Amino acid sequence: MARSERMLAAVLVGFVVLVSGSVFAGCATAPAPDSGQAIYTRYCATCHQGDGNGIENAFPPIRETEWANGDKGRLIRLVLYGMQGPIEVKGKTYNNAMTPHGFLSDEQVAAVLTFVRSSFGNDADAVMPDEVARVRAQEGERGLFLSQELMTRTGIPEADSP
Ligand code: HEC
Repeated sequence: MARSERMLAAVLVGFVVLVSGSVFAGCATAPAPDSGQAIYTRYCATCHQGDGNGIENAFPPIRETEWANGDKGRLIRLVLYGMQGPIEVKGKTYNNAMTPHGFLSDEQVAAVLTFVRSSFGNDADAVMPDEVARVRAQEGERGLFLSQELMTRTGIPEADSP
């Protein structure tokens, strides 16, 4: 009797270890649902790829590019409103369209851009939700930017003059 109780206890302990082990493994592989990485995987990786290298002649890389590391206002406008027209990225010309992502919240845009600016070899400062809010308030409802126009649309409006 005592022996079978010990066996039962051993099986239970084994089960608990197994379950908690897989829960922890799950945490390690799947980022929190609203993390910048999760938003990137869901909304950007289809085109720019999980490794940020893009797809030749179709989707530019975001690895160590001037856009990814450059002016935050331009980057926020790009993600909120999208862009079409020719651009040069790392010596190659792309002439395609990036879809708008204005349906993302200010927090989500800030999180995904902060992730992009600190991943894939990029090294630029974080983007804050209130910076996204100010750009959104200034631009309002609008269609895709033309690349020529967006190239010069830099900066984030002041807090008191949206
Ligand atoms: C439907 C495909 C698609 C999706 C989805 C997409 N992009 Fe793009 N992205 C493009 C294309 C195409 C361009 C270049 C547009 C052009 O030719 O004018 C671009 C340009 C860029 C650039 C500037 C150029 C460079 O490579 O540095 C950045 C930065 C960027 N995208 C980031 C993002 C982020 C962040 C997301 C997710 C929120 C995203 N993109 C989602 C297709 C996409």
